[in-house]
Amino acid sequence: MTDARLAAVVVLAAGEGTRMRSTRTPKVLHELLGRTMLGHVVAANRELEPDHLVVVVGHAREQVAAHLTTMDPAALAVVQEPQNGTGHAVQVALAELPELSGTVLVVLGDAPLLTAGTLRALVERHHADGAATTVLSAVVGDATGYGRIVRDPAGGVMAIVEHQDADDAQRAICEINSGVFAFDAARLREALGRLTPDNAQGELYLTDVVGLHRAAGHVVAAHVAPAAYEVMGVNDRVQLSQARRLLNDRVVAEHQRAGVTVLDPQTTWIDVQVRLAPDATVHPGCQLHGTTTVAAGAVIGPDTTLVDTEVGADATVLRAHCVGAVIGEASNVGPYTYLRPGTRLGRASKAGGFVEIKASVVGDGSKVPHLSYVGDAVIGERSNIGAATVVVNYDGRDKHRTTIGDDVRIGSDTMLVAPVSIGDGAYTGAGSVITDDVPAGALGVGRARQRNIDGWVARRRGTATTGDEQP
Ligand code: UD1
Ligand code: CA
Repeated sequence: MTDARLAAVVVLAAGEGTRMRSTRTPKVLHELLGRTMLGHVVAANRELEPDHLVVVVGHAREQVAAHLTTMDPAALAVVQEPQNGTGHAVQVALAELPELSGTVLVVLGDAPLLTAGTLRALVERHHADGAATTVLSAVVGDATGYGRIVRDPAGGVMAIVEHQDADDAQRAICEINSGVFAFDAARLREALGRLTPDNAQGELYLTDVVGLHRAAGHVVAAHVAPAAYEVMGVNDRVQLSQARRLLNDRVVAEHQRAGVTVLDPQTTWIDVQVRLAPDATVHPGCQLHGTTTVAAGAVIGPDTTLVDTEVGADATVLRAHCVGAVIGEASNVGPYTYLRPGTRLGRASKAGGFVEIKASVVGDGSKVPHLSYVGDAVIGERSNIGAATVVVNYDGRDKHRTTIGDDVRIGSDTMLVAPVSIGDGAYTGAGSVITDDVPAGALGVGRARQRNIDGWVARRRGTATTGDEQP
């Protein structure tokens, strides 16, 4: 008799989150592994393809609703004002939707670890039992603060009692309410209309729907979460870091099972959207953020941060900080290298120690091995940029472009004052300040000639020094 469609998901996110102690960020917008808490909740629920996805907002509603619009434009933000309890929040959400039939899933915006798999299992259980209410419960070591699942001697769910309303016997129960429920839409509507605020907090509790359905003779079921940590709620920043750790463990393990070598999961942080190919290797102390992708055979780390960076097959990136960069196949980066947005390293190229590159192309087989800055430049193929070369791209007002051809040899300590162009096969003399274009095949030299002044030291200092006297 149950309608198997998932009519709506209602995400409760109107609470203030006082314990985060933030004056700028509403609780559900705190981040873990590249997504807000709300982002994780919405993403997991989207996988169930509900007809409607509603987020109940209240505190900092403009900020939360604006974030929702960028993250999931199809989701509907509904304002609950004042925040009169979880039951009231669901009343407000349903009032904004057309008459629903089928299943309504209610989830919490501060439980970011729940997977689509567990939510799907909850809904399947709800349908299989033909239930009016199915609560997602969990068995935990410390149930303090949670609502307790009160069962009858036969094991049927009788009621949920909030911690503050529970007696000692009830407080000893370690099966808790995760706050997540599957409801039959019509039965939910009936029960919501009968909620009363006679409890310790003077609120309309969603949990009271359980007792009401039970009293009306409807089926009330519980699905016990297979991994209790998944239902963990985040109320302060200690729990936020615990949740982040747990989520990271899960993400790293998924990559390991898919063929990625991660040497030290404890010091490796991988955002949920990062993609790693099988046979990639991640050494200790790495942080892979945003839309970073790493191809097969690439070796990352130790101590490397990649943000929105693409690493090609068999490349090595060692002790580097890379943001918005593309690192070509079989290239070498590091150690101590800073690649900024718009950097594109070609195949088998190199960006070595103490090198910073911004908005520049380094062609296939070209190398910037030591102590250099390259900005707003295009370097062709097989060229070598000598140690301590600087592309002088900024005149204090405007940025200018530099072009370096194929097979170029830039001498050490060259200043390339942009705009400037170095032709194919050209050389520059070490220590040159290059302000004019160098034609293909030419040597550009821009420096004073050295002269040696014989006897200068004896004349000017009165003695020939060995260099190690104290001044
Ligand atoms: C709630 C449950 C408790 C469960 C626990 C799991 C109730 C009465 N209690 O308790 O049984 O063990 O979650 O974490 O449901 N919210 C609104 N509007 C409101 C009140 C709350 O949107 O008027 C939202 C909050 O933003 C939050 C969620 O609902 O995301 C839970 O509210 P919270 O006050 O944290 O409930 P708990 O006391 O944790
Ligand atoms: Ca809570």
